[in-house]
Amino acid sequence: MDRIAIIGGHALNGEIPISGAKNSAIKLMAAALLTDAPVRLTNMPRLADTRFLARLLRRLGAEVTETDGPEGPETLLHTPEIVSAFASYDLVRQMRASFNVLGPLIAREGHAKVSLPGGCSIGARPVDLHLKALEALGAHIDLNEGYVYAQAPRGLIGAHIRFPFVSVGATEHTLMAAVLAKGETVIENAACEPEIVDLAECLIAMGAKIEGAGTPTLHVQGVGKLNGATHAVTPDRIEAGTFAVAAAMAGGKVRLTHMRPAHISALLDKLRASGVSATVGETTVDIHRGPDRLQATPITTDPYPGFATDLQAQFMALMTLAEGESVIRETVFENRFMHAPELARLGAEIEVHGGEARVRGVEGLKGAPVMATDLRASVSLVIAGLAARGETVVHRVYHLDRGFERLEAKLSACGAEIRRLKGEEDAA
Ligand code: EPZ
Repeated sequence: MDRIAIIGGHALNGEIPISGAKNSAIKLMAAALLTDAPVRLTNMPRLADTRFLARLLRRLGAEVTETDGPEGPETLLHTPEIVSAFASYDLVRQMRASFNVLGPLIAREGHAKVSLPGGCSIGARPVDLHLKALEALGAHIDLNEGYVYAQAPRGLIGAHIRFPFVSVGATEHTLMAAVLAKGETVIENAACEPEIVDLAECLIAMGAKIEGAGTPTLHVQGVGKLNGATHAVTPDRIEAGTFAVAAAMAGGKVRLTHMRPAHISALLDKLRASGVSATVGETTVDIHRGPDRLQATPITTDPYPGFATDLQAQFMALMTLAEGESVIRETVFENRFMHAPELARLGAEIEVHGGEARVRGVEGLKGAPVMATDLRASVSLVIAGLAARGETVVHRVYHLDRGFERLEAKLSACGAEIRRLKGEEDAA
C-alpha cells in the first residue's frame, strides 16, 4: 500500500487549479444510464472513484471512454441498452455511491437488483430515505439477503415526497428517478448542495424538466425519454476548501483557480474569523496567512450552505495550532472524528464527546506515522503534516486517491515537501 511522506515547515506559495467535483461526477456518470444517447462530461476529475464507477457502468451496458478534450479531461458515456440491471455486493461495498445506479436502472428498465451499501467508517449511513422515495414513485421494493429488488414494470409515477431531514444522496437519487416518471414529482426538504444543482443542470440539458434546484423544493415534470448532452462538472468545492485550509495551515500565499468561491463561503468566513485573509475573485480565491498566530474558531457542520462536514477534519487540523479552544460540532454524521486520535499522534490536544470535539491549540505539531479511515480524515493528516516539524507519513493513501486528483503534485508545485512512497504493506 502506498504512503505519503511530508516534511513539514514549508510555506505554500503559488496557484492551485481545482478539479471537477468527485461527488458530482459520480452522480452524473450514474445519470448517463437514463438515456440511450451519449453523454459527454467535461472537467472530469480522474480519481479511483470515477474509475471504479466506470467499471460498474460497463457491466451494466455502458461504453465509457476517457479522453483529453480541448478543455481538459472528458468522459463519454453511452448506454445503447442496459445489458444487466444488477450491482453486486462486492461493487457497492467498495464504493457506496454505486448504490445510486438503482434509481436510473428502475427508471429506464423497470427493474433492478442492487446491493444495500451497509455502514461505513463515518457512520451507519442508512438508505431508508432513498428507498421510501423510490416506493413513493411507485417502485415495488423487496429487501432480501442484503439486496434491494426493485420492480416498476409499468414505469414510475410522479409523487409528492417530503424528506424528514436533508439528504444529499436521497435528493439526487429521487431526482434521477423522477425525471422519467409519469407526471409531476415535488421533492420537499431537498438538499441544496451545488452537486444537486449540477446534476439538475445536466439532466435539464438531457431534456428533463426540473425547477427549483438549489432550493429546498424541487418540481420535476416527468418526460418520456431523455437525450444525450454535454455538461461540465462543477468544480470540487471540497478540494478547494481543503487547499484553502492547507494554505492557512502552512502559511504563505496561494491562489485557488477554476473554482466557484460562493460554494465555500461558510469555510471562508471561518478562515477569516481565525485570522486568515481570503480574497474572492470571480473564479479564484487568494488565501494568505501572515506571521500572526491563528485564533480558535468554533464550527458546526450543517447541510449546504452551512459548514460542510467534508471540511470538518481539515478545519480541525487547522485549529490544532490556533490560540485558545475551538469547539467543533459534527451534526451530519455520527462518527466523523476518527482523525482526532491520529492528529493527537502529531501532538494535537483534542477531546471528543459524542458529536463535539474540543481542540486546545498547541504551539507546534511534530511529525509521526499516522493513518486514517476515510478520505477527508486522511487529507486532514496531510494538512497537519505540512505544518508539523519533521516527517509525517500518512498510511492508507488509497483513501486519498479516491477523491483528490494529483494531491502531491498540486501541493509540491506550491513548495510543499511531499512525496509518495510506493508499495510496502503497512500493518493493519
Ligand atoms: C454525500 O453523502 C457525500 N457523498 C458525502 O461525502 C458528504 O459528506 C454528504 O453527502 C453530506 O454532505 C457523496 O456525494 C458520494 P447524506 P450522502 O445522505 O449522500 C443520513 C466524501 O467524503 N441518512 O446527505 O450519503 C446519513 O446517515 C463523502 O466525499 C439517513 O439516515 O449523505 C447522514 O447522517 C463522505 N438515511 C445524513 O443523513 C438515508 O436514507 C446525511 O447524509 C440517507 C441519509
